[in-house]
Amino acid sequence: MKVIAAIDQGTTSTRCIFVDRKGEIISVGQKEHKQIFPKPGWVEHDPIEIAQNTLEVIARARIQKQIQLNQIVACGITNQRETTVIWNKKTGKPYYNAIVWQDTRVAERADALEKEIGSEYFRKKTGLPITTYFSSLKIQWLLENVPGLRQDAEEGLALFGNMDTFTVWHLTGGKLHITDVTNASRTQLMNLETLDWDEEILQKLNIPKSILPEIRSSSEVYGDISAEPLAGVPLAGILGDQQAALVGQTCFEAGEAKNTYGTGCFMLLNTGTKIVHSKHGLLTTVAYKLGESEVQYALEGSVAVTGSLVQWVRDNLGIIKESRDIEALAASVEDNGGAYFVPAFSGLYAPYWESSARGIIAGLTRFVSKGHIARAVLEATAYQTLDVLQAMEKDAGLPLSTLKVDGGMVVNELLMQFQADMLEVPVIRPKMIETTALGAAYAAGLATGYWATLEDLKANWGEDKRWNPQMDAQKRLEHQKGWKKAIERARNWMD
Ligand code: G3P
Repeated sequence: MKVIAAIDQGTTSTRCIFVDRKGEIISVGQKEHKQIFPKPGWVEHDPIEIAQNTLEVIARARIQKQIQLNQIVACGITNQRETTVIWNKKTGKPYYNAIVWQDTRVAERADALEKEIGSEYFRKKTGLPITTYFSSLKIQWLLENVPGLRQDAEEGLALFGNMDTFTVWHLTGGKLHITDVTNASRTQLMNLETLDWDEEILQKLNIPKSILPEIRSSSEVYGDISAEPLAGVPLAGILGDQQAALVGQTCFEAGEAKNTYGTGCFMLLNTGTKIVHSKHGLLTTVAYKLGESEVQYALEGSVAVTGSLVQWVRDNLGIIKESRDIEALAASVEDNGGAYFVPAFSGLYAPYWESSARGIIAGLTRFVSKGHIARAVLEATAYQTLDVLQAMEKDAGLPLSTLKVDGGMVVNELLMQFQADMLEVPVIRPKMIETTALGAAYAAGLATGYWATLEDLKANWGEDKRWNPQMDAQKRLEHQKGWKKAIERARNWMD
């Protein structure tokens, strides 16, 4: 049987999956990597650890089902976006750890740039406001703070990449220094119209063009992998993870949307070939470009902290042993007991974009138990998604009729029901919830003829479960009112 490989280099772990023509998973290898927090607000990963894990998870997934090299038609890559690494071209050694998308070390720089140039300038060209989230200011920080790096960059010795670029470079033995349009659209250095690096922005931020990778489509044969566990396999797909999930959910028509519940939560609405500039705090981003076909754009509502809040409760509060225990703990009480948790650990993302917001738990009384906290934790994901959905409906000018969901948290039935109750639209979970890796596999399979058309992919999509809104209107409004109050407190925390 012929299969496609997909590598998903995510925020907390790296996975390799093999899928068949029906889009079903044959085999999986997965390994978590260290989260490094050197200071409050700083988040780093060790890129070398991730490169080693990548090889290990590929080998594991192959061994698990005895997959032979000649069975593997192609490999696709998907990745946590924005996370920034710069390494030496000759030695392959990173100059510094990868600065993770959640990292807020450039907050002051972002504020200064906002005053100096203003977000509108960047929004128009790149679809993105000035915040700590994107790669641009992280690159600048590295160039300014790592001794010797600026000089190496000017001499053409240093290479920048997001985790897709870094992974591809390693898998091809340093032969390919490339990225795709979706990842490039998150650097804040790519012009959305030309799909090329924006010379004016590079100049303003003093970033040498020589460190940047070549921008390619999301689905084409880029070259062959040389690393042992996939030696000789064509590398044929690259997509940022949220765009990959959009493809995995087969949201190919303008107006189709998905929401992925991972470390954070990311809702993407396909807007077709049109660049729609948001008036309500969403991002404009590239959805995908499949080979020679026209580029497709999307509106995105990014929420920084959802699944990672459950991990935080597990690791820092210790009130649950495993992440999945949160559902049982939350179900042990009837409601949130008046408690609201705003997890603004990296400031607030969409639709607020407030770097200086900080996390709060509001509404505490002696009545509140750990069950209520667990409930508030899960509800926070649903409220943040509601904020994004409302912004999306305003931007799109029409209500969404259903929401397709995927990602690790959608196994949580209590959350999914509450989500439907808050949004007042049915929430639909597909049979395959690993849509991120699936999307990367689809991109690679389309480029190599494993799947012929988008219709083949659509035929693979099947509904698993649907949650319809059940909560009465008054109760829903009370919840929403409580959340709005809590959000205001978190926003004003630094004032
Ligand atoms: O923009 C950040 C996003 O790509 C991270 O996704 O799934 O690793 O939380 P995830």
